[in-house]
Amino acid sequence: MSSKSINIFIFLLFLLRLASSDRTSDCSNRWIYIRPLPSRFNFDLLSNCSAYPLFDDFCSYLPNHGLGPKTHNHSLSWYRTDPILLEQFFHRRILEYPCLTQDPTLANAIYLPYYTALDALKYLYGPEVNSSNQHGLELYNFLRKDVPHIWDRHAGHDHFLVISRPAWDFSQPFTNDPPVWGTSFLELAEFYNVTSLIPEGRAWGWQEQAVPYPTSYHPSNSVVLGSWLKRVRNSRRNSLMLFAGGGGVAATPNIRRSIRNECEGYFSKVCEIVDCSNGICEHDPIKYIKPMLQANFCLQPPGDTPTRRSTFDGILAGCIPVFFEEQSAKSQYDWHLPQHIYDEFSVFIPKEDVVFKGLKIVDVLMSMPKYKVRRMREKVIELMPRIIYRRHDSTLPMKNIKDAVDIAIEGTLHRIQSRLKSVSVQ
Ligand SMILES: *[C@@H]1O[C@H](CO)[C@@H](O)[C@H](O)[C@H]1NC(C)=O
Ligand SMILES: *[C@@H]1O[C@H](CO)[C@@H](O)[C@H](O)[C@H]1NC(C)=O
Ligand SMILES: *[C@@H]1O[C@H](CO)[C@@H](O)[C@H](O)[C@H]1NC(C)=O
Ligand SMILES: *[C@@H]1O[C@H](CO)[C@@H](O)[C@H](O)[C@H]1NC(C)=O
Repeated sequence: MSSKSINIFIFLLFLLRLASSDRTSDCSNRWIYIRPLPSRFNFDLLSNCSAYPLFDDFCSYLPNHGLGPKTHNHSLSWYRTDPILLEQFFHRRILEYPCLTQDPTLANAIYLPYYTALDALKYLYGPEVNSSNQHGLELYNFLRKDVPHIWDRHAGHDHFLVISRPAWDFSQPFTNDPPVWGTSFLELAEFYNVTSLIPEGRAWGWQEQAVPYPTSYHPSNSVVLGSWLKRVRNSRRNSLMLFAGGGGVAATPNIRRSIRNECEGYFSKVCEIVDCSNGICEHDPIKYIKPMLQANFCLQPPGDTPTRRSTFDGILAGCIPVFFEEQSAKSQYDWHLPQHIYDEFSVFIPKEDVVFKGLKIVDVLMSMPKYKVRRMREKVIELMPRIIYRRHDSTLPMKNIKDAVDIAIEGTLHRIQSRLKSVSVQ
C-alpha cells in the first residue's frame, strides 16, 4: 500500500469509528491493544501462499482481507472463503473495534496479530518438519525481548491470538521425535497463559476457546442480512435430510459409512448426499448452499476431527443440524451457540447407536412432530447472525446485531478478566 492509500484507509477507519460512536460510549473494561509484530509473524506468511507444494496454494483466497474473491462479479455477500485465512480476516476486523487503545498499560486485553496456522505450514509441509516443537518460540522470544513489560504485566494472561486450524494440528507431544503430525504450539508452556481462539479445541485444552469456522457468506449491512434471513425462512424444504461431504467409502464401520448406506436406500426427497469428496465444494458454496436451503435437517458427522465447517454452512441455510458427537459442537462453541440451548435448535443421535445398534437416522427425524421442526428452524435462524463473519468496512453498522467476531471479542474480554482475577488471588 502506498502511504497515500494508507492515509485514506486510516481516515476511513476514523469515519467508521465516528459512525459507530454510540457503541464507543462505554469502553471501560473493554480496551484492546494490538501488539505490533514484525511482518514475518503475519504479512510475510501471506506472500508465502504458494511455497508449499504438499499444501494447496491459497494465493487466490487472499483478496478482501482473507474473505477471498467474490463468487461472481455481481455477488453482494458471497465469497470463496478459505477458513485458513481467518487469522488474516480477524486481524482486519479488529481494526474496526471501537475500543482500541495505543497504550498497552490501559488495555484490558492484548491482541497478538500472529498468523499461527500459516506459520505452522513450514513445519507441517516445509523444510522444518523435524523441528515442529519449535513452533511459537520465535514469537515468544520476541515478546520477551521487545518491550518486555507488556508481557510481564500479567505474565501473558491478558494476551490472545487466533489459530485458524483445529487444535489437533498443534498438539504434538514433545516426546514424539520425529513428529507424527502437527506442531507443539499448544503444548508449549510459554503459551499456556495465552487465550487461543480456534475453530476446534481439544477436549482437555484450557488455553483454547472454539469460534465458528467462517462460511462463504459475509454481508456488509443489516439490510442484506435481513433479506437473506427472509429467503432462508421462506425457502421450500422438500427433502428430509442432507449430508454434504466426503468419506464413508472405506470398509471399516463408521458414522459416515452408515449415513451413506442408509441414504442409498431412499429417494433423494428423504435423504440427499452432496458429494464433496476431494475438496470440490470447499470454495464453491453454490454446490451445497442451494441443496441445504431445501433440506430440513443437515447431518454433521465427525470426520478426521470432530468438527466441520459444514455445521455453520447448514445453520446459514436454516438447516437444522444433526450431531453424532458432543465434541462436534456442543462442547466447543459455547460462546456462539450456548450449550444449554442445543435441544432447541439441533438433534443429537449418538453415533454408536447408528453404527453398532442399527438405529435409523431417518426414523428418528421422521418421528419429529412438524411443529417442533418449525420451532427448531426458527431457533436456527435466530442464532444465525452469531455465527456469521460480517464483511469488514461495513457501509452501514449492523445495528444491534452481533456477529461471530463481536461475540469472540466479548467472550475473550470476559475470559481474560476472570483469569486475571484468579491469578491475582493466588
Ligand atoms: C517461506 O517459505 C520458505 C520455503 O518453505 C521458507 O523457507 C520461509 O521461511 C518462509 N517464509 C516465512 C516468512 O515463513
Ligand atoms: C468480472 O469483472 C472483471 C473485472 O472487472 C472482468 O475482467 C471479468 O470479465 C468479469 N467476469 C464476468 C464473468 O463478468
Ligand atoms: C526428518 O527426520 C527424518 C527421520 O529422522 C528424516 O528421514 C528426514 O530426512 C528429516 N527431514 C528433513 C526435511 O530434514
Ligand atoms: C503463566 O502464569 C503463571 C501463573 O500466573 C506464571 O507463573 C508463569 O510464569 C506464566 N508463564 C509465562 C510463560 O509467562
